[in-house]
This record gives sequence, C-alpha cells and structure tokens, in this order.
Amino acid sequence: MNRIALILILQNLCNLVSAVDESPEALYRRTIKEWRTKRSYEPWMKYGDDLLEKFDTSSNRLEIVGGFEEGVLAIEKATVARGEADNKERDIALSKLYYGYGYVLMELDASECQSLALDPHTLLIGAETVSKNDEPSTDLCLENAENSLRNAVTLDATNKVADDLLQRITGMDSVHKRKPKEFVAELFDSFADSFDEKLLDGLQYKVPQMIGKSVLKLGDKFENVLDAGCGTGLAGRFLKPLVQNVMVGVDASQKMLDIAEKCTVSSGCGLKDTDEVEASDKTPLYDDLLVLDLEDMSIENTLKGKGDGFDLIVAADVFVYFGSLANVLKTFSNISTKGSKLIFTAERATEEEAPLGWRLLSSGRFAHTKKHVVEAAAAVGYELTLYQEIVPRMEKGEEVQGHMFGFALSNASSGNSEL
Ligand SMILES: C[S@@+](CC[C@H](N)C(=O)[O-])C[C@H]1O[C@@H](n2cnc3c(N)ncnc32)[C@H](O)[C@@H]1O
Ligand SMILES: *[C@@H]1O[C@H](CO)[C@@H](O)[C@H](O)[C@H]1NC(C)=O
Ligand SMILES: *[C@@H]1O[C@H](CO)[C@@H](O)[C@H](O)[C@H]1NC(C)=O
Repeated sequence: MNRIALILILQNLCNLVSAVDESPEALYRRTIKEWRTKRSYEPWMKYGDDLLEKFDTSSNRLEIVGGFEEGVLAIEKATVARGEADNKERDIALSKLYYGYGYVLMELDASECQSLALDPHTLLIGAETVSKNDEPSTDLCLENAENSLRNAVTLDATNKVADDLLQRITGMDSVHKRKPKEFVAELFDSFADSFDEKLLDGLQYKVPQMIGKSVLKLGDKFENVLDAGCGTGLAGRFLKPLVQNVMVGVDASQKMLDIAEKCTVSSGCGLKDTDEVEASDKTPLYDDLLVLDLEDMSIENTLKGKGDGFDLIVAADVFVYFGSLANVLKTFSNISTKGSKLIFTAERATEEEAPLGWRLLSSGRFAHTKKHVVEAAAAVGYELTLYQEIVPRMEKGEEVQGHMFGFALSNASSGNSEL
C-alpha cells in the first residue's frame, strides 16, 4: 500500500470517529467553516440536530448548552454585521437553534442551571442576578427556555416542535392563535393613559382617519355602527356624523373604555383642547361602551334590543392581536345585517413569510396575508370591495407595512345564521 492511500484511509477513519466523538467545540468549528464555504445555512440545521442528539448521552450537558449559545450568537452577529435583510433559510436555521436552546434549558436540573448562570459567557438573560450562594433553582433556565422558544416560533411559524414545547411550558394555546383576552386587557389597561399621546404624536398613527375616509366614501349613513376594539375611541370621532341610530364601542380593556367614555361630540377622542368646537356639544360620542371580547359578541349583548344588527363595523388596528381571523370574522358576520359594510386594517405579510396566512412578528403583533383575510371573510359571506396598502404607523423610525380592507356582506348568504 502506498503512502497516499494509507493517509487517505487514516483520514477517512478519523472523519468517521470524529463524526461520532466530535466535541461540541469541534462541531462548532467545522460548522462555521462549512457555513462560510457553502454560503448556506444548511450546516447550522445539521449542527442543531447533532447537538440535540449528543445531549441525551452527554456527560457534560452544559457543553451542549454552550454549543447552542455559540451557534445562536454566530448567526445573530453575522446578521447584524452584514446588515442582512430577510433571509428565509437563515430564519429557519436560527429557529432550529433557538428551539434546541430552549429544549436543553428545560432539561437542566437546578444545579446545572446555576452553573450555567455563573458562567461568564452564558447568554442567559438575568444571569447576573444569580450568585453562587443562592439556593440552586431551574427558574431562570425555564424563563429563558420560554423566551428562546418564542424566538423560534417567531422566526419560523412552521416550527411545530417549538410551538408544541412552548405550549407545554406556558400551558397556553399555540402562540399562532390569537392573543388571549386576559393578555390584551392587561396590555392595554397598562398603557391606556398614554395611548393617545404616544400613538398620535410619537408614532404618527393614522388608521382612524384612513378608516374614516373610506367609510365616508361609501356615501351612506348607517343605522347601527360597531367600533370593534374601539380602545380610547379615536375612530369613533370619524364615524359619529354618519350614525343614525346607535354607535357601540367594544373593547377588552376597561381602562381604554374609561377614556372613550369621557369623549363627547365636541371633546376628547383625538380632539385636543385647542380644537374644541365652538358650540360645545356634550352628547357622548358613543351610545354604549362594552367590555367584551370581540369573539364573544352577539346581537343581544351588543345592541341590547336597540337594533337587529350592525350595518357598519370597523376595526382599526385590532386584528394585529389575532392569528387566524376566521372566528372573529364569523362573529362579525353573525351580528350584521345583509349588505352590511366592514372596514378594517391589518399588518401585511407575504405568503412566503406567512405560510399559515398570518405570522407572529417580533413586536408580538400578527401580520396577515391578503389571501388569508379575503378567504376567511369570504367563508362567512363577505365580498371584497376595497383593498389598499397603507402605512398605519411608524415603528423605530420605520414605516410599518399594513393594509386596509373593505367588505360588504353579500345579500345571498344570510349573515344572521350559523354558517
Ligand atoms: C391598537 S388599539 C386600537 C384602538 C382603536 N381602534 C384605535 O384605532 O385607536 C387595539 C385595541 O384592540 C383591543 N383588542 C384587542 N384584542 C381584542 C379582543 N379580542 N377583544 C376586544 N378588544 C380587543 C385592545 O384592547 C385595544 O384597545
Ligand atoms: C350567532 O348569534 C347567535 C345569537 O345572537 C348566537 O347564539 C350564536 O352563538 C352566534 N354564533 C357565532 C358564531 O357567533
Ligand atoms: C344588499 O342589500 C343592501 C340593503 O338591502 C343594499 O343596499 C345593497 O345594495 C345590496 N347589495 C347587493 C350586492 O345586492
């Protein structure tokens, strides 16, 4: 046997052995190298799988945890350094590593979790709060696991193992479903007092005007109007002149409604003191304000005998708290009269970004594809009458991508029946 052949055989043997016995550190170095040469994120996906496989039998599980941390860090850093824009392959690979990181963090016992927190290189958020005299606990690792799994499902909505694990940790429904009403109520209760100021001045929030304009263009007056997710009542200001019977505001947050309650025809709800109309009209802007989840609405609990259905519903920047819109649109259709109009805004996602039809953004809100919106609405009798891409507000100096929809409830299918 000549020398070259021998070297080749030895090399192959080494490769074989290393594939099995490779340390997380060596695996990391090899992955980085392959990533650079192949210019593909595929090696990171394999890296995630390999680390997870090693975890079960490893005698040093913290080394594996560190491996996930290094992988996440490498990709996140490169993304920032290269100013890399949307890259689906990267998001899927990173999602996989965040899942792995979440999984191993959940498995650690109290003393492992404490050692990890005391490691100066760890990515654990809140590690600085742990000292070596503390009673060992898994709390910090579980919190970080939840956080990591949230990142995983945000980056890749089709990462089902991450979604399942997150549901197990939080004991809540899939994050791809809508926000629970307790969550929404708490969130908006907490910033009701600064809501108008923040949105109108800071974030150039224009949705109420946009919706108001679209409603005006319909050229009709309306008997019964529903401002769904009315919040502090910013949209009501633009609807009031067209209302002939009642305007009802519904919201999950009592504190937001407390502010809307103070609005009259000539003050509040977006009108500054300086805009005060001359003849001060103290008629309340809304005829009724109800704390209610949008999916729990019925004709009885909203109109309370004052009408037999709504002929206009608006929802300004509310569907960002819903994943699938199927249920909420069904409820809308169920409380509407035939021919009733519906106008709302949402944040925009492409079908590529949002294979489910909606996608959880890192802001915690949902963005929807036009396709999902139109299909979910059609399923309960709505026909599209208006579509417009909009910028609902600014966020961190950038324009948020949104869209506005107008629908009419077709006269053929009856809205007031179980579909
Ligand atoms: C961003 S604010 C918009 C408020 C108002 N429409 C406007 O344009 O100023 C969203 C509102 O929707 C409400 N909301 C979100 N999900 C809801 C749900 N499932 N049921 C009732 N209200 C909800 C929140 O409480 C909040 O007041
Ligand atoms: C439709 O409305 C009726 C009565 O108002 C109610 O009993 C039923 O549960 C509603 N269905 C849906 C899907 O909201
Ligand atoms: C449906 O009925 C409403 C009210 O009866 C009417 O205003 C509207 O024009 C009708 N729409 C269609 C598409 O027939």
